[in-house]
Amino acid sequence: MPDLTIAIAKGRLQDSAMEMFRRARIVVPDEAIESRRLMIADESGRYSFIFVKPSDVPVYVEYGVADAGVCGRDVLMESNADVHEPLDLGFGHCKLVVAGKPESAERGYNPLATARVATKYPRVTADYFQRRGVPVELIVLSGSVELAPVLGLSEHIVDLVETGRTLRENGLVVIDTIMESSARLVVNRASYHLKRAAVAELIDTLKKTIHEETRSNTKDHR
Ligand code: PRP
Repeated sequence: MPDLTIAIAKGRLQDSAMEMFRRARIVVPDEAIESRRLMIADESGRYSFIFVKPSDVPVYVEYGVADAGVCGRDVLMESNADVHEPLDLGFGHCKLVVAGKPESAERGYNPLATARVATKYPRVTADYFQRRGVPVELIVLSGSVELAPVLGLSEHIVDLVETGRTLRENGLVVIDTIMESSARLVVNRASYHLKRAAVAELIDTLKKTIHEETRSNTKDHR
């Protein structure tokens, strides 16, 4: 029986997350990661990793199926899950933005008209527009959100920007930044107490790894 089960967001954060664990000497063999198995033990047998859709990480951790998880702050804010968030892991930096065609950016928001916004982040989006007193109609998509303004499905989108390339290549611009995001370690509230020693060891190990990485990067840039 492993000490801890850790849920990893598949996709853009997965490789950096597994690389961080490897540097922390929590090693999962490459063949196992490359396989289609969704549950894999590390070499020590102390940790079991499960690979799930990013938006499912907070769900698995909140319900205690996983003791801990790695996902973006954007996903965490959208889920509103009741989990501990003890550590910014320092990778996966990106922004959650409102974007649209340049004409929309110039027009700004009209508080008297309903803004049609396509997004994978309905909760954060509704909150953002409500705070500005702008009525909003949400169109919930699950990917390629940038197509919505291009095809006239919505005037605005709320989506992640990492390099800015997808926006640029589809003729869209950033109108406002809602939040900065990066990868976070999240921990189930019960595990935090019931598996205190194992959770503390994991947090400590990852903190040291991040610290060492930051120091060596600083040296490299001198
Ligand atoms: C994300 C995001 C943008 C894109 C931004 O999509 O939703 O579409 O990456 O990255 P960039 O600024 O570096 O171009 P993802 O690749 O996760 O796929 P999706 O469109 O299916 O959500």
